[in-house]
Amino acid sequence: MKHVPIVVLDFGSQYTQIIARKLRESGVYSEIVPFSESIEDIKARTPKGIILSGGPASVYAKDAYHPDEEIFNLGLPILGICYGMQLISQHFGGSVIPADHHEYGKAQLKFEKESDIFKDTTDGQTVWMSHGDRVEKIPEGFEKIATSENSPYAAIADMNRLVYAFQFHPEVYHSKEGAKLLKNFAKHICGCESTWNMGSFAKEQIKKIQDKVGNKKVLCGVSGGVDSSVVATLLAEAIGEQLVPVFVDHGLLRANEREQVEAMFKTRGIDLITVDATDIFLDKLKGVSDPETKRKIIGETFIEVFDEEAKKHDGIEFLAQGTLYTDVIESVSVKGPSKTIKSHHNVGGLPDWMTFELIEPLREIFKDEVRELGLELGLPKDMIGRHPFPGPGLAIRIMGDVNKPDLELLRKADTIMLDVLHATGYYETTWQAFTVLLNVKSVGVMGDNRTYDNTVCVRIVEATDGMTATFAHIPHDILETISRRIINEVDGINRVVYDISSKPPATIEWE
Ligand code: XMP
Repeated sequence: MKHVPIVVLDFGSQYTQIIARKLRESGVYSEIVPFSESIEDIKARTPKGIILSGGPASVYAKDAYHPDEEIFNLGLPILGICYGMQLISQHFGGSVIPADHHEYGKAQLKFEKESDIFKDTTDGQTVWMSHGDRVEKIPEGFEKIATSENSPYAAIADMNRLVYAFQFHPEVYHSKEGAKLLKNFAKHICGCESTWNMGSFAKEQIKKIQDKVGNKKVLCGVSGGVDSSVVATLLAEAIGEQLVPVFVDHGLLRANEREQVEAMFKTRGIDLITVDATDIFLDKLKGVSDPETKRKIIGETFIEVFDEEAKKHDGIEFLAQGTLYTDVIESVSVKGPSKTIKSHHNVGGLPDWMTFELIEPLREIFKDEVRELGLELGLPKDMIGRHPFPGPGLAIRIMGDVNKPDLELLRKADTIMLDVLHATGYYETTWQAFTVLLNVKSVGVMGDNRTYDNTVCVRIVEATDGMTATFAHIPHDILETISRRIINEVDGINRVVYDISSKPPATIEWE
């Protein structure tokens, strides 16, 4: 097994992945393993240190998660975070009790003792607490190294045994110098070096894919989005022609999108298999205006077409997916034994015969890291910076039934809006920008003539992960240009409105 400088034992905290992420930012490679990992498997990674994550349980609960106690006899530095701290206290003979109230929020960390773990960080720094239990009595050999107003044992350590524990969460954003604390643990306590970067991640993943796949074939659905493009590129680097990359054109793409995706793969020497299924999709969508029915039809048809294509290729044993860490809901299961296909909202479940083994090289990284990886693999900058685009495509941006003339109308308006955003620099600073055909007609005047035409809504939002979003405060003169150009240049549209709702309560898409 490969050398892993820091092994993080996961006790189910929703922040566990961020610990690994912060360590990666300081160039230290780490792997997250379930709390139940055997001592042999932990040792096989020849770690220089171990981190025990937080977790939702109480160490005294009947079904509390406990690691193999042997980890405490390895002579390795250990850092416990929150639940991890309570495990350490319990193991070494301290006591843990329920706190009077769940301490939640910011606190000021006051140093009580000099320690390398605090090196180059500030006394009084803000840290973030979230715990229901607290250490009442620290174990023998330990001393408090920091306090906070509500936590007399905000940080404790046994400096001889190199065991450290924080009551707070250094990994979360609100712990202002938390990343440095984790780095200090890795570098100054464990003696790790900063040798990890996206280039080494790419190399590792390529090697992993090669070892796993052997001479078999891998099917990979490509949408033209960042995630699937990065996965396909990584696979192409790893296994060349054993990759079967399938791009289903459902006829609901934006203007020139298919051509752009094809050209990008072509310049990289990847033979993309494009399936033009426009007519199949549009036939099935004819007369359907209910949003959920549209999504269902698109999901099912996508599977049918994909399935049909996959059957043409012999020897496929793997399916590659661009699942990101944010798609993996249950933290404990990230590395857990049960790997199932996520029921994504645009993939309605794969047919039974497609029981391929999954390859998910992005499963443990975040969107911005995927972008960094894409750049590392040489994907063009404009591809990496593309806004997310929903699987059902323009079908959910046309209110009412979907047909070719409306798709054309929407594509024209969309192209103009994107053109203006690119020209003014707002494309890069926003999360998503698109137009919606409202299927609402209104009266207007064009020259001397009365018009009765379509309305288009412009939706531009700012977000960091799409879970919440605010409408972008685009200057009025830019909105005016978008409106004027759409109305002048697109026959059939005489009114443009701007969506000023945020998510929640609205969603980003209209359907
Ligand atoms: P909502 O509209 O739910 O969108 O606020 C949040 C983010 O998800 C995208 N989205 C989808 N992506 N298939 C996808 O692949 C879908 O069915 C789908 N619906 C919404 C949306 O564009 C936004 O980025």
